[in-house]
Amino acid sequence: QTTRMFIDQESPTTEALREASALLRDGQTVAFPTETVYGLGADATSKEAVSGIFRAKGRPEDNPLIAHVATKKQLRSLVTSLPAAAEKLINKFTPGPLTLVLPSNGTCAENVTAGLSTIGVRIPDHPVAQALLKACDLPLAAPSANISGKPSPTTADHVWSDLQGKIAGLIDGGATGVGVESTVIDCTQEIPVILRPGGITKEQLEAEIGEVMVDPALASTTEEPKAPGMKYTHYAPDVPMWLVAGTPENIQAVIEKERSSKKRIGVMASIETAEKLDADRIITLGSDLREIAASLYDALRIFKNEDVDLILCESFPRTGIGQAIMNRLEKAAVEFVEV
Ligand code: TXA
Ligand code: MG
Repeated sequence: QTTRMFIDQESPTTEALREASALLRDGQTVAFPTETVYGLGADATSKEAVSGIFRAKGRPEDNPLIAHVATKKQLRSLVTSLPAAAEKLINKFTPGPLTLVLPSNGTCAENVTAGLSTIGVRIPDHPVAQALLKACDLPLAAPSANISGKPSPTTADHVWSDLQGKIAGLIDGGATGVGVESTVIDCTQEIPVILRPGGITKEQLEAEIGEVMVDPALASTTEEPKAPGMKYTHYAPDVPMWLVAGTPENIQAVIEKERSSKKRIGVMASIETAEKLDADRIITLGSDLREIAASLYDALRIFKNEDVDLILCESFPRTGIGQAIMNRLEKAAVEFVEV
């Protein structure tokens, strides 16, 4: 039985927070909104509590979790040292959609880090997440609150449909904002390395600390990624999806060709592109890349319930948050088509 609690983002009330905190302090799992996606939280200092997360999600044990904390002071209490670059990034971008990989001091349970010597830490910028972290006064291990392999949840309903009955609580605080997960940056290297593109862009990071690298595995099909979670197929809708790069006219030609073999075609595209296309089902993602990021996972989930045989998704520029969008779409797609 999962208790669903409602909290108004504008004024987080204490009743639901108290109830959720009690569950967390009792070693149970509670899903809550952050500014990126919903997270599934548990006491990061308890191995048993953390194993509840892996169980509920069906998550591989070798995939480490991010520890969420409310303050910089609490963040410091989980790591052995803060390199100068990490300090700068924390001051500039947290609270916010950035996860720093730092040397762990062992405060968190060993299954949080999947046995690694490093730990991913993040201070979320969402009033409900902040209020919850303060109320329970624990670091919370929290992966995205989806069944492993599904798109991350950006609404409480997404969490409910994946995890209802498998977790103790769900705090419904409305839709999240950013829509894609936090950027994961490894700060244990001389030059910090982006392990997962996300809400804070490479351009933003470089403006603050100079050169940053991107894990070469993200652009390769043979290399093993340094963030264990990046090696899994992810975000996949139930229907095959092609990522299509080309003019609206050329995308339409692909639609016609596939339709001629009696396939029903779904399309995911920007408003501007969608206006020029005709398909059996069209989901518009917004106009600019920020809007597209915010609606991406919901669109992937909507197609799960649509009667289509093939989804064609427009390919987007890899600038700014486009890097994160394209990373997720490449994982979700079975084919990349240039026309
Ligand atoms: O926006 C987010 O980051 C959301 C919200 C809930 O905070 N959380 C999230 O967690 O996306 P999750 O578990 O779905 O993704 C965490 C990613 C995985 O790819 C994992 O492998 C990587 O971060 N990661 C965590 N700790 C790491 C570490 N010590 N070294 C390398 N990669 C790590
Ligand atoms: Mg995830």
